[in-house]
Amino acid sequence: MKVLVTGGAGYVGSHTVRWLSQRGDRVWIYDDLSRGHREAVPADQFIKGDLLDANKLEAALFENGIEAVVHFAGASLVGESVERPDIYYRNNVAGSLSLLEAMRAVGVTRIVFSSTTAVYGTPEMMPITESLPLAPINPYGFSKRCVEQILADYQSAYGFSFAALRYFNAAGASPDGDLGEDHTPESHLIPIVLQVALGQREQIVIFGDDYQTPDGTCIRDYVHVDDLAAAHQAALSILCSPGDSQAVAPQKLFMNLGIGRGYSVREVIDVCRAVTGHEIPAVVGPRRPGDPPELVANSSLAQRELNWQPKYTSLESIVETAWRWHSQHPNGFAEDKVSVES
Ligand code: UFG
Repeated sequence: MKVLVTGGAGYVGSHTVRWLSQRGDRVWIYDDLSRGHREAVPADQFIKGDLLDANKLEAALFENGIEAVVHFAGASLVGESVERPDIYYRNNVAGSLSLLEAMRAVGVTRIVFSSTTAVYGTPEMMPITESLPLAPINPYGFSKRCVEQILADYQSAYGFSFAALRYFNAAGASPDGDLGEDHTPESHLIPIVLQVALGQREQIVIFGDDYQTPDGTCIRDYVHVDDLAAAHQAALSILCSPGDSQAVAPQKLFMNLGIGRGYSVREVIDVCRAVTGHEIPAVVGPRRPGDPPELVANSSLAQRELNWQPKYTSLESIVETAWRWHSQHPNGFAEDKVSVES
């Protein structure tokens, strides 16, 4: 199948590009490189472009005979979204609308969308099923929720077929250590803890230990990035199997992706200590505004509908892959940098 992956040079995007390519799909990457890394994807099928550039998008879809889109492009930092909502509504909402219109113009109607647990806000019940209320508490969550609604409306009005995959905490790296997580600035827990192990930071600051959880720190469900990639491939095959797109009800295609087990911040640090063999000093700081105390997935819908089973079912196995990446690439993709004409 010929697939366009927007945001394919980003963290989950680049792992998905590689996963799809290795399994026989023909993949093109459309990315503006504002946050992604040129070095994370093969050169020959890379298109540098902005989602708001409708002409470029239409050409990318039409000229390459694209049959389906996997849509990662967008901004994804909760804290930044509160300070700069304009970025989130422009990149995530207006950008997605521009993509859908380009798809409509050239007759491509199948899309897998990168959504998030942030659409649930602060749910009162754990684990989280897809039937819980959608009540985002920050512009990032609202922007993703809004795109989910647009997709549902495009499904009814224009016959689009879509899967919105709601990831919990994406983590880990490709097992060979070639691809991994590299954000600037880094704000995610596991990479930061591993930077402490590498001696690049003095300590990890735990954002609050007075939550209503067993050890007082926040609990998250960490899911391996290759397991997320596998779910995208499974969703694509469902959307693209003949006759299925009209038969599947839209609500069936909103799916949680997590391993179904939560780890507290303190547990994450302990696992990183065990995996790396480093002491990793930790101190407790104030809470980070907007952090829900606990987010754990019920992914039984994805398991049933996509026949998806995460291969990495323990945090140890996930952190081992992340540690391989970080120790082999202490400066991320920077050391792989090549001079590229865009
Ligand atoms: N944390 C710390 N110290 C740090 C960094 C993080 O204690 O230096 C804590 C956070 O407070 C949180 C946990 O570690 O409790 C995980 O934080 P991350 O920043 O790694 O991940 P989030 O859970 O905040 O964010 C993830 C995704 C977002 C998504 C969000 C939904 O990265 O894209 O889940 O809640 F929106």
